[in-house]
Amino acid sequence: MKNFLNIHSDLDVNILIKEAIELKKNPFQFETIGRRKTLAMLFFNSSLRTRLSTEKAARNLGMEVMTLNVIDAWKLEFEDGTIMNLDKAEHVKEAAQVISQYADVIGIRAFPTLADKQKDESEFILNGFLKNASVPIVNMESATGHPLQSLADALTIEEFKTKHKPKIVLSWAPHVKALPHAVPNSFVSMMRTLEADLTITHPIGYELDDRITKDTAITHDQDQALKDADFVYVKNWSSYKEYGKVLNRDSAWMMTKEKLGTAKFMHCLPVRRNLVVEDAVLDSEDSLVINQSNNRTFAAQVVLKNILEIN
Ligand code: CP
Repeated sequence: MKNFLNIHSDLDVNILIKEAIELKKNPFQFETIGRRKTLAMLFFNSSLRTRLSTEKAARNLGMEVMTLNVIDAWKLEFEDGTIMNLDKAEHVKEAAQVISQYADVIGIRAFPTLADKQKDESEFILNGFLKNASVPIVNMESATGHPLQSLADALTIEEFKTKHKPKIVLSWAPHVKALPHAVPNSFVSMMRTLEADLTITHPIGYELDDRITKDTAITHDQDQALKDADFVYVKNWSSYKEYGKVLNRDSAWMMTKEKLGTAKFMHCLPVRRNLVVEDAVLDSEDSLVINQSNNRTFAAQVVLKNILEIN
């Protein structure tokens, strides 16, 4: 694996999941593969899970880890040919090459603007580093995708499924803020590569990018979607069509114990209690959110191992 940027059809996800399951049995079995190698993690946005699990994964492989909160560094320019006479002090052309002198792998977290769809879809931050760095790049959640999360989610489903092709429902939930599409995008892409019966349910106006959902079953009737579900993945996202807007705050879309029935509950976290999902779900044995968070380490570890093996 040269870089890990998104979930795509050339990625053999089943092999990665199998490898992650083996790594989880003995996380230190490749503890020298990253000896004298350094992971630099660049955070343009906040993180709890990604930051700690990716650092843990790198250390399990023997890597050194450096973390830069980009807000503490020089403000970066990403446009080519700009006269840099405003507030941007350094261009990504230099920054990416400089960081490549100190690191063997660069992880990047950079959320979307949710104001400029074209700019967000250009993935200018992730691609700015990809183009100018001389070392592999790992997507730690970009404007349009969160592949490390969806790999951890797939691993969790593999561990808990009781049938070959489980019914999985991605259910929109209300939120007070406009949130990105990265998690649902990558979750849908991941589920479409696996043996899964996927249904998406959301209010009118919350259709995801149809280049990602393709022919996935979509309904605006949450009750109908949840019928016979094995796993229910709950997530808020802002409107894609009316880009970045919050069109609906209807609390009837919140996930409850009654609606969940016998299904397992999933969420990437962080989650707002009693807005997105009620306490009774999160505090029940049917919640897999801590399992998902634990699996973030093994998802990151299998990705870093694959990168170290060929770079
Ligand atoms: N799920 C997830 O990526 O969590 P953080 O934003 O805390 O990293």
